[in-house]
Amino acid sequence: MITLCAMFANATVLDRIDGRYHRLLRANEPPERHGELCRFCGRRRTHEGFYIKRTRVSSSGQVCPAMQALALFVQFALAICVSATVPLPNIERKTSFPIVPNKFIVEFDTAADIPGKRSGEAPHTHILRSWTERGVGFHVGHKYNAPGLFVGAAITLNNTYDVKQLGQTSGVLAIRPSFTYQAPKPVFSHVITSPSDPAVPPETQSTHILTGVDKLHAQGIFGTGVNIGIIDTGIDYTHPALGGAIGPGHKIVGGYDFVGDNYTGGNTPVPDDDPLDQCNGHGTHVAGILGADPDNPFNISGVAYEASIRAYRIFGCTGDVTDDIIVAALLLGRSDKQDVLTLSLGGADGWTESTSSVVASRLAATGTVVTIAAGNDGATGSWFTSGPGNGVDVISVASLDNTVIQLQNATVHGVANPGIPYYDLWPLPIPGEWPIYATSNDTTIIDDACDPLPDSTPDLSGFLTVVRRGTCTFVQKLTNIADKGGNVALIYDNGNGFVPIDTGTFTNATLIQAADGIWLVSQFIAGAPITISFPQSGGSFGFPDPSGGLISSFTSYGPTNDMYFKPAVAAPGGNILSTLPVPLGSYAVMSGTSMATPFLAGSAALLLGVKGKTTAVALAARSLFETTAQTIGSDHTDVAPLQTATQQGAGLVDVFTAIHTETLVTPGQLVLNDTANYKGFQSFTVVNVGKTVKNYTLNHSPAGTALTYQPGTIFPADGPVPLSTNYATVKLSATSLTLHPGQSSIISAHITPPSGDDPSTFPVFSGFIKIQSETETTHVTYLGLKGSLKDVQVVDNTSATFGFDIPALIDAAGDVQTGPQNYTLLGSDVPLGLSRLAFGTAILRYDLVQPDISLVPTLDPRSLKDGNPVLERNLFSFPHGKPNTFAQVSIVGSLFEIDYIPRDPENGYHTLQFSAQFANGTDIPTGNYRILLRTLTVTGDSTQEKDFESWLSPIIGVFPNGTSDSA
Ligand SMILES: *[C@@H]1O[C@H](CO)[C@@H](O)[C@H](O)[C@H]1NC(C)=O
Ligand SMILES: *[C@@H]1O[C@H](CO)[C@@H](O)[C@H](O)[C@H]1NC(C)=O
Ligand SMILES: *[C@@H]1O[C@H](CO)[C@@H](O)[C@H](O)[C@H]1NC(C)=O
Ligand SMILES: *[C@@H]1O[C@H](CO)[C@@H](O)[C@H](O)[C@H]1NC(C)=O
Repeated sequence: MITLCAMFANATVLDRIDGRYHRLLRANEPPERHGELCRFCGRRRTHEGFYIKRTRVSSSGQVCPAMQALALFVQFALAICVSATVPLPNIERKTSFPIVPNKFIVEFDTAADIPGKRSGEAPHTHILRSWTERGVGFHVGHKYNAPGLFVGAAITLNNTYDVKQLGQTSGVLAIRPSFTYQAPKPVFSHVITSPSDPAVPPETQSTHILTGVDKLHAQGIFGTGVNIGIIDTGIDYTHPALGGAIGPGHKIVGGYDFVGDNYTGGNTPVPDDDPLDQCNGHGTHVAGILGADPDNPFNISGVAYEASIRAYRIFGCTGDVTDDIIVAALLLGRSDKQDVLTLSLGGADGWTESTSSVVASRLAATGTVVTIAAGNDGATGSWFTSGPGNGVDVISVASLDNTVIQLQNATVHGVANPGIPYYDLWPLPIPGEWPIYATSNDTTIIDDACDPLPDSTPDLSGFLTVVRRGTCTFVQKLTNIADKGGNVALIYDNGNGFVPIDTGTFTNATLIQAADGIWLVSQFIAGAPITISFPQSGGSFGFPDPSGGLISSFTSYGPTNDMYFKPAVAAPGGNILSTLPVPLGSYAVMSGTSMATPFLAGSAALLLGVKGKTTAVALAARSLFETTAQTIGSDHTDVAPLQTATQQGAGLVDVFTAIHTETLVTPGQLVLNDTANYKGFQSFTVVNVGKTVKNYTLNHSPAGTALTYQPGTIFPADGPVPLSTNYATVKLSATSLTLHPGQSSIISAHITPPSGDDPSTFPVFSGFIKIQSETETTHVTYLGLKGSLKDVQVVDNTSATFGFDIPALIDAAGDVQTGPQNYTLLGSDVPLGLSRLAFGTAILRYDLVQPDISLVPTLDPRSLKDGNPVLERNLFSFPHGKPNTFAQVSIVGSLFEIDYIPRDPENGYHTLQFSAQFANGTDIPTGNYRILLRTLTVTGDSTQEKDFESWLSPIIGVFPNGTSDSA
């Protein structure tokens, strides 16, 4: 695993460091396998990845308001770097495509007539025998035998190079890597101690009210008889709110532990029948959101608390899980006849092609409702939703912030005052009553306490200092106060917003609202006998969350790199109280799309409970939730555009309407694709399933257009993604409609992309076509890109991240190679390839080529300036049909390939440590070469040289004895 800028590594990692990349050893792969961009096509790949996220702090040291859900988690740990570049010495000399060693998931053809297969023989027997006969050394892990869904096996090879032997056996459809997913991490987590704990939301059912679940509960709808499988860290079924036991007749009816407590993702799982989790807790929180019984001290209840739950435990107490286990859990859930499977896990992906994405999608397409988290990577911007939630037919779930946030009140003594709310989940740890001192009597001062306090200032050690926000950092103000002995301070807002703030090491300071600060200063000027104290219990109250009811800023933005509509729909996931294993405290508040996902699984259970557990209902669930969802604004003002569908999906689920609507609209999503592949003519069907005549009006309600790129750059915009109010125009075949009971109508829509936005921002436009009857509003959501994905630059060829141009080779001494250079390829005397992806690519490939290759790379001609003039102008030579070619370019041999890689977040990058071997295990002969890096542009044809971006390295001389006469 790569280490990114060490500077960031500690204080600033907010979330998981994960992601997934694939490596494809395709040296001898038949040409027809190249470059498929199909949904379930066979791919041979291994997989890994990483990335890092950090909170940005503005120049005045104030946390951007929209980042508060993230900032809460680290609000005293934000003294962080906003470094421009990653220092060269920080680049570790190892491959940062860490492949789960030699492990592959091989998919078999189930056709009866595999050549060479004995009659009546299972494909497993035939194929494993065939490998053994070829001398391949391997170990078989999970065997999958779900015809129509997935048949195959997880294979660990003795020798990586044998992967090509696997593929040469008839009946092998696909070889995919078994990659790693990090354990799900909530964005924010706080263990509740008692019902009077300050962090308990006062209206614990606010999430149910937001989504109509309270009304369904009032109707006696609780998901009775529906089976839900939770694929997670296991469940503490001993929890009283979760039934107290496991087995038939209990809430948790069963399950399976695929891994055991000690499993970390890198060691051997120790499975057993007991999915108990009393050490991790994530799955227990998920289970409570879905199924907690109401009779508990906090009076919370699960969305579908009479459903039956199975716990599939795939994480140990800490660590990761590998893909082969997720696939096994998905298939066991299916064979256990679970109606709903829910997975609050994943990693930033951008593509729809990972093994677990593919299998989850197949389950969803054949009648299991599958809900999966969209991801918590909102800060990284667009094109970044998680797999397996990216699986084409699964329901990828966005998060909405709960409407209340728990803040503390300071108590005022000496003068009547109801309490002064301050921005903190926990009481400031300050005993006693404090007289106040204001650093300025002017409550409009813009730079209060930015300079050292005047000599006339008294010793502040006995005072609570009141200071106004603005101009300099909070830490600067607090430092000046500390210079006068002051240790306790309230900073009052100057209109920038009531949010968590960064006070560095000053833990006895926090933000209060402007009006409270002005009042305190007036009391100070008046010489009122006022003191302030900080109650250590009972001071908490439910402050209306400024972002409550909005999409959580941490929700990952779609769409996928291949323009699939992700996320699909939102559910409450920010600031959610639920169960925790008894030994870990029994209850906790957590935030994340992990929390939104079981909410939607519970919603699906309510739907199936009412409409029947049929395949038809399951297949209709996503459209029903999408078309009946509530559209959400991008902020609380009247003038702000609706939030982009790339983050809210079709909106916040309204379970009551989804179940009781008398108007069915299909499909739920209209994907218009990019400009090159634009499908502006769309249609949808409206059906009146009610018992009365309905008169509908249809109209267009645009969402903000997501400006997904920083203008004029090759870099995606960070979240919150800027929105423009240039909207698409929508022409409908009818704007009003009368339907008798049972009648339906097909409406066509002609959607024209917006104009006016800078094309370099790759605007993703979206919105809603609303269909309103006298009593109901439903909608269809559309999404399209103004611009063409093929024009998006994949490889970062700037110096923005490192201070020197990339891609680059780094030599054994750690220097960037700028001219011809020799390597022995022995030990560490190998080049290290350094690259960074500004956008995802379906194929990234390193090949070794002749030094005088006739090729004009698309990227950075600087690498050619090493005395080989023939390279300057000539075009590719195209040796069609020869064995040693790839995408029309003659190669000496393939070094490395990886497929379906997400883009890199800020300061993320890839390194590849070359060895003395080609990818197929043969030795690289002595000689002079260049390294050719190529990436396929999105929607590009992988057989065409012109559809790749390319970069040629300076000449490398390979001379094992260390001498050379030519390079
Ligand atoms: C593969 O490795 C296993 C375990 O180390 C060993 O038992 C087996 O003989 C090896 N197979 C081959 C063909 O090398
Ligand atoms: C887990 O690991 C610990 C420490 O190595 C060991 O003592 C314990 O027996 C292991 N538990 C299981 C179930 O293997
Ligand atoms: C906290 O202060 C606010 C505003 O002064 C007040 O409305 C609220 O009742 C107080 N809550 C508690 C628990 O003191
Ligand atoms: C601010 O008000 C206090 C209290 O009335 C007074 O003692 C102090 O002199 C005032 N400061 C200035 C700069 O006017």
